[in-house]
Amino acid sequence: MKRILVTGAVGQIGSELTVALRQRYGDSAVVASDVKLPSDPALRDSGPFEFIDCLNPHHITRAMQMHRIDTIFHLAALLSAVGETRPLQAWQLNVDGVVNMLEAGRQYGCALFFPSSIGAFGPETPRKKTPQVTIQRPTTMYGVTKVVGELLCDDYHRRFGMDTRGLRFPGLISYKTDPGGGTTDYAVDIYRQAIAHKQYTCYLRADSRLPMMYMPDAIRAMIELMEAEPGKLKHRNAYNLGAIDFTPAELADSIRAHIPDFRIDYAVDPRRQSIADSWPETLDDSAAREEWRWSPRYSLAAMTEDMLRQLL
Ligand code: SER
Repeated sequence: MKRILVTGAVGQIGSELTVALRQRYGDSAVVASDVKLPSDPALRDSGPFEFIDCLNPHHITRAMQMHRIDTIFHLAALLSAVGETRPLQAWQLNVDGVVNMLEAGRQYGCALFFPSSIGAFGPETPRKKTPQVTIQRPTTMYGVTKVVGELLCDDYHRRFGMDTRGLRFPGLISYKTDPGGGTTDYAVDIYRQAIAHKQYTCYLRADSRLPMMYMPDAIRAMIELMEAEPGKLKHRNAYNLGAIDFTPAELADSIRAHIPDFRIDYAVDPRRQSIADSWPETLDDSAAREEWRWSPRYSLAAMTEDMLRQLL
């Protein structure tokens, strides 16, 4: 990785990944891109920015030529809950956008990282210790687009030898940039509300267990996967990525260790609850552990301590 392009660089993952990549490979080697300008000075002032709408191939190829890009982190996407309200837009951005990036990447000889998700599974998938290779029949448009993205990345590798790699992320928790429109976002909002109001009303049931991960682990996973020895990667695209799993009630308990009078109430949103109910509770990530030595660092307690310290 010498000349890197990050799409969706202003989003929840992109805003932290871009800064981490600049620290590792040099500020000028990492081009941030999005359809909106970054407002965070750490991102805005630390390196080049290009306006790229991933649905416009000219935007992509122009930036790739100008900056001699060799590696793409393609993060621009719509999340699950908002994708259910705007399914056509989710398909266009999440599938046509990937096709455009793969095509440009193929023409310019780039490696490409694709973020898949627990959303790529569905109600027929085993929910506990979900295997790496298993039934994938998602019941959200978001999930459909993630399965298509995984398969397209496999296809570009098989057909053209393109160096495509990817991860299936659990719900991601971060304090720098809020996520937008996901089903797992409660696990981010809850910390801000705990600090501001000592109360949070959760849209998922108290016992809804989902796989989750603290953002520093997710950033490290992306960089480690893209730096991994290619010969070791058997699955290559869409590695299950495990870290922690918890329910809203357990997350509230971990916050109560620091804010004893924190209260959680429940007003279940049937739409997001049914999405959560169709996703795994825990993931088997042994392929990632064996093939490129994946190992998460943050427990629930360590994440909660750091989130509260950073937000206070
Ligand atoms: N965090 C995402 C969502 O909830 C899943 O990948 O949509």
